[in-house]
Amino acid sequence: MNARFPAARPRRLRRTPALRRLVAETRPRPEELILPMFVKEGLDEPNPVESMPGVVQHTRESVRKATQEAAEAGVGALMLFGVPQYKDERGSAADDPGGVLQRTLRDLDSDVGDAIVVMSDLCLDEFTSHGHCGLLTPTGEVDNDATLERYASVAVAQASAGAQVVAPSGMMDGQVAAIRAALDGAGYTQVPILSYAAKYASAFYGPFREAAEGAPRFGDRTGYQQDPANASEALREVALDVAEGADMVMVKPGLAYLDILAEVARTCPVPVSAYQVSGEYAMVEAAAQKGWLDRERAVLETITSLRRAGAAQILTYWAVEAARLLR
Ligand code: PBG
Repeated sequence: MNARFPAARPRRLRRTPALRRLVAETRPRPEELILPMFVKEGLDEPNPVESMPGVVQHTRESVRKATQEAAEAGVGALMLFGVPQYKDERGSAADDPGGVLQRTLRDLDSDVGDAIVVMSDLCLDEFTSHGHCGLLTPTGEVDNDATLERYASVAVAQASAGAQVVAPSGMMDGQVAAIRAALDGAGYTQVPILSYAAKYASAFYGPFREAAEGAPRFGDRTGYQQDPANASEALREVALDVAEGADMVMVKPGLAYLDILAEVARTCPVPVSAYQVSGEYAMVEAAAQKGWLDRERAVLETITSLRRAGAAQILTYWAVEAARLLR
């Protein structure tokens, strides 16, 4: 080898934007993006979420407009969260046909048709007075099996209101099977389940709890969400959910769990999505506000990294902006 000239020069293919575009391996598409949105009952005006600059709690009217915008930008789907005015121990508003989420689902069903996929988050934490994802036992633990009955009922309420996909996020054992059986029994055999299969007990959900008003009043979720220390458990969770009938599965959060995402994506027979959660959003927004990083580049780089790790769909609060940038 001639010492003066390296034989291989990877830099050759990086020299111009056109060359880089030609050899780029990963290019997220707008259609793969899923926009999470919050709808709050009884709001007159959209209410900014302080810890998530640019994100609001929507009114029933403003969510319709935002949905239109997302569809026009080419975003693939929405994930809707309801924030009810009244909460109780059972989370009664979660399966009330007149509840805020069900009303919104019906509005969107008549507005959007097939322009965008409307998904609903299926959990109880936004709806319970104690803020946990399920019913409590007298000693204050989350009662897995009693919660499954509630989830079954919520799934049917959401499907009958027009949810095109239901997405259980509560991490109860057996939740996918319970929901599948309930949906099928009620005639909703065609409604897919996107299961939050590998969901970790994460500090990065902090800002979400302001947005969805679902912070636990006592304790935390470490008794039902996964321990960040564990990887193989995620594969087991995914396998169980697939066996129970999950049509799609999710890994959550995103950036701190790229190893889990890559492993699940390599081995899972159904589409795998990743959720870029509220704390990931807030981190970038806060640093950008201080002028410490280039916001747009960070948005695209993080989304690209989730795609590169194997996510087929990406839930991100930047979905609309990213879709426009990616077009
Ligand atoms: C629970 C739920 C949470 C998120 C989505 N669904 C919060 C939690 O589990 O504590 C977090 C999403 C985010 O942080 O963006 N229903």
